[in-house]
Amino acid sequence: MYKIAVLPGDGIGREIVPEAVAVLEIIAEKFNTPFEFTHGLISEDAYQKYGHPLPQETLDLCKSSHAVLLGAVGSPAMDQLPPELRPERAALLPLRKELGLYANLRPVTVYDCLIDSSTLKPEVIQGVNILTFRELTGGLYFGPKERRPLADGGYEAVDTLVYTTREIERIARLAFEAAQKRSKRLTSVDKANVLESSRLWRETVTAVAADYPDVTLTHMYVDNCAMQLVRWPKQFDVIVTENMFGDILTDQASMLGGSLGMLASASLGGNVALYEPAHGSAPDIAGQNKANPLATILSVALMLRFSFNMNEAADQVETAVRRVLEEGYRTPDIAFPGCRLVGTKEMGAQVRDILKTL
Ligand code: IPM
Ligand code: MG
Repeated sequence: MYKIAVLPGDGIGREIVPEAVAVLEIIAEKFNTPFEFTHGLISEDAYQKYGHPLPQETLDLCKSSHAVLLGAVGSPAMDQLPPELRPERAALLPLRKELGLYANLRPVTVYDCLIDSSTLKPEVIQGVNILTFRELTGGLYFGPKERRPLADGGYEAVDTLVYTTREIERIARLAFEAAQKRSKRLTSVDKANVLESSRLWRETVTAVAADYPDVTLTHMYVDNCAMQLVRWPKQFDVIVTENMFGDILTDQASMLGGSLGMLASASLGGNVALYEPAHGSAPDIAGQNKANPLATILSVALMLRFSFNMNEAADQVETAVRRVLEEGYRTPDIAFPGCRLVGTKEMGAQVRDILKTL
């Protein structure tokens, strides 16, 4: 019996998470593996009930589960709160840190049938398959921050980018191991021409490379990487980078695959892993049955693979998603003229219908 903590969170998280849970329910039946779902509050709901966006109850629930499924956090109502109570800073980041989730995996797969949804030329993106390892518990997100008043009436604001050798080593190892199982090419992205933390990053990744002689390691500056991702993305297989560079580059890379609404993620490194779509809570379309549930459904495929070692089940979920897209079903974010335009619920139902036949 696998225990799964379910945290829908804000905005479209409340619509997409039930679709992914329903997919897991079918897998449970098909593979005769019971899952126990327990819902927890995070962000706005939690703040209303407990006065804090990440209550201890929720943290305890996550820690006592085998995996966590998270929708999204971020809502206009919460934007009015002081920074220390905003859900990004007071819920999402502490959750990642408390669970020890230092490795965030974001796979970008360009499905042939979605090539036209991308803004890039077909020959540039066809066949792209990139796996990014984003360091998730260090760097600018977690370093000391401060704002000081200045004599001139203005302020000085400071965010600190801190990395230790150990933090870099452990994520580098995971990326090298993944590269060994794929095309044996790893690109480490930094800004070593300017930043001291990046110089340590580059030295450390280079040292770790000695243990993986079969993997070809390339170092790339982050600005160049941003350019290369749209110029010739097929040069990339596995990418490893620090927290903020990874945040930015993975949003960018998601558009190779046609939509941020397709980008799944797995956060690993602790006793419990967390799975969430890489997109946000999209308050502008929340509650309208318009959100694309596929990133969340693909995130539970990652859960099946990484947390439960259910590779066949994961393959089936991914196949079902591919088939639904091949049959022309589209949520608005990936729609094209003449497609079968569907909402969140219908898209989830299509995936489940195909899944049942596999
Ligand atoms: C992500 C998101 C978060 C991040 C935000 C919501 C804090 O953009 O998961 O990529 O920056 O990590
Ligand atoms: Mg982001």
